[in-house]
Amino acid sequence: MAERLVSPEAEAREDVRLVEGSRGPIEIGDPALPLAPGVADAVDVAPPETAHEEVLVLDFGGQYSQLIARRIRECQVYAELLPHDLDLATIRERRPAALVLSGGPASVYSEGAPRLRRELLELGIPVLGICYGMQAMVLELGGRVEGAESGEFGRTELTLAGAGGKLLAGLPPEQQAWMSHRDSVFEAPEGFDALAASPGSPVAALENIERGLYGIQFHPEVVHTPYGQQILERFLRNIAGCEEKWSPASVIEEQVESIRAQVGDAGVICGLSGGVDSATAAALVHRAIGDQLTCVLVDHGLMRMNEAEQVVAAMRELGVNLVHVDAEERFLERLSGVVEPEQKRKIIGAEFIRVFEEEAEKVDSVGFLVQGTLYSDVIESGGDGRASETIKSHHNVGGLPDDLGFALVEPLRMLFKDEVRAVAAELGLSDRVVWRQPFPGPGLGIRIVGGEVNRERLDILRDADAVLQEEIKAAGLYRELWQSFCVLPVVRSVGVQGDGRTYAYPIVIRAVTSLDAMTADWARLPYDLLERVSNRIINEVAGVNRVALDISSKPPATIEWE
Ligand code: XMP
Repeated sequence: MAERLVSPEAEAREDVRLVEGSRGPIEIGDPALPLAPGVADAVDVAPPETAHEEVLVLDFGGQYSQLIARRIRECQVYAELLPHDLDLATIRERRPAALVLSGGPASVYSEGAPRLRRELLELGIPVLGICYGMQAMVLELGGRVEGAESGEFGRTELTLAGAGGKLLAGLPPEQQAWMSHRDSVFEAPEGFDALAASPGSPVAALENIERGLYGIQFHPEVVHTPYGQQILERFLRNIAGCEEKWSPASVIEEQVESIRAQVGDAGVICGLSGGVDSATAAALVHRAIGDQLTCVLVDHGLMRMNEAEQVVAAMRELGVNLVHVDAEERFLERLSGVVEPEQKRKIIGAEFIRVFEEEAEKVDSVGFLVQGTLYSDVIESGGDGRASETIKSHHNVGGLPDDLGFALVEPLRMLFKDEVRAVAAELGLSDRVVWRQPFPGPGLGIRIVGGEVNRERLDILRDADAVLQEEIKAAGLYRELWQSFCVLPVVRSVGVQGDGRTYAYPIVIRAVTSLDAMTADWARLPYDLLERVSNRIINEVAGVNRVALDISSKPPATIEWE
């Protein structure tokens, strides 16, 4: 049994929250911090044809809006996150089984607070308002919402009024729920039943069965609301009447059709990074068009131990045409003498594109480029999320730009990361590829810090990293960590080995838990594991005499060191 990687102290602090996703415990940030707007703006994800029943989550800018969509999908109902002001005609056309109104950072009374259009409540589609979504609904329908003296943030005791009505039926009379609000509903609108209360929310849940309108003040999508998933499930199945069982794998057949229709007889090219997204996108496109696809793996010499070989093997096993370009020399030559991080990134990024283009030119009649864009990228790139903007531009370094002159094929556009893994497994990719932790495009190049990237240092870092990965996997912790890796600061410190003194590099261990890399906490790795890793690295990797552990969270630190 793997140990938990988040300290009891951190867990006890109200500002660190754990979500039991399929990846294990993950941290989802601080509700007391100003909330990133993250309002979804991109509407160009067509609903999968296999999902006849879909739920639209209308985003009022809440921190957990994406998570609501993910949780609904975990109930096997397809859900999409769309902007709160999505036009009514589109909503009608899509005929969703239900609408969910997300939380939001604003008070319903603050200037510029996103307004809820009454028409949304009159479409004859069941609506569930969550937090801000519920308050906006109450305000629109004439109930009383007021700023309470103090808000409720964190775990809150919820008490049912009676049997819980239709929405909360079957739940215990007292339970915990996670709250994050300042305003409260003091009086339900006419025709509504109040279903529950908490110390700071006289009406913490309500419903009007006849009109199909439901609201909860708390967040069912986070694990600190233990009955949250059950409430969502109940809303979807018993109230919205969803009957189908959607699964990410159902996307495969539908994508196969649409890829065929999109590319016709043209050639398609795909850059493989070694990660699960590009491998899955490639496998999916290959299933659709077979030999029309050529994959290119640009091996810049900055990958982890055996990484390139594993991807090559996985693709060959599926019968994918693959060009494996060994470009290590070229990259190292260009990186020689370069220390400045951004310059390094630019060199790696530009060289990557150059090599890729050279290879693409050798392939006949290429018309399309496969990109492993995910649903979270689609949401984030459409929003005005300030934080995500800067992080995105930085993430794309070391990848391929959209304007290489090819039309894009993006078969994973509607999937969250966890769902990509499910599709990858279904397509027959090995566990190694399916569960690979994210790895930056510039690879080990940005993990040698404060000095030039050269072969000697890369070999040291790669060997140390291999030890860390091996031990973390052996301890059963690999999947629980968002990322785990080694960093090589280019400094030397003194040590003593045998009879002599050494003057060698340190290795820093970095291991984090995270939901989406926007925030992260350092993982509480067990001491005996750390001891094993340290001993092995110092004994087995020549050139290292010291191992340190990075215990910084993000923010204020970042996950990578450069
Ligand atoms: P930071 O270090 O900003 O990283 O907390 C957040 C996530 O992004 C990855 N990362 C990169 N990915 N090119 C990439 O493709 C980059 O230049 C880059 N820098 C950071 C990092 O590994 C983490 O998952």
